Amino acid sequence: MLRHFVHPRFLISRGRAAGVVHAFTLLILALGPGLVHASNPEEDPVYVKKVRPLLDTHCVKCHGPEKQKANLRLDTLKAMMEGGDSGPAVVPGDVEGSNLIAAICYEDADLQMPPDGKLDEEQIEMLKKWVGAMGG
Ligand code: HEC
Repeated sequence: MLRHFVHPRFLISRGRAAGVVHAFTLLILALGPGLVHASNPEEDPVYVKKVRPLLDTHCVKCHGPEKQKANLRLDTLKAMMEGGDSGPAVVPGDVEGSNLIAAICYEDADLQMPPDGKLDEEQIEMLKKWVGAMGG
């Protein structure tokens, strides 16, 4: 019965439309996490669960609400991007250009953070990956 109402041409065009919708859905699925990530990196689970607790423990006593050594605060992502005396501490996606990374890698004898001893390799790698993945 239905046969009488559904013209084959209609079926084809419906098929094509479904294909377009499908491709669009896939695109959204593929881009979705990236879009969410880019729009609010402050809510990124890596930042919330790993980065922030690590910085709270090792950095915020000197770079937070109480003290701002080198005019730098590390208690919010916004503050990290604004940076301190020597510019932004975190440049999203730019591991080499982020002072925070240079400091924790003890690359420069004048800037070694935290001052009382290097973080674990694993923590350093995690922070590098986080900066690298941010903003894309
Ligand atoms: C005991 C205090 C202390 C702790 C803890 C500390 N810092 Fe610092 N930080 C300083 C001081 C002091 C400076 C100024 C430069 C100097 O004297 O070495 C500084 C400077 C910096 C700078 C350069 C800022 C600029 O714009 O000039 C960065 C980046 C930085 N710290 C990152 C960190 C990170 C990341 C941590 C934690 C892993 C950390 N610091 C922990 C005291 C501290």
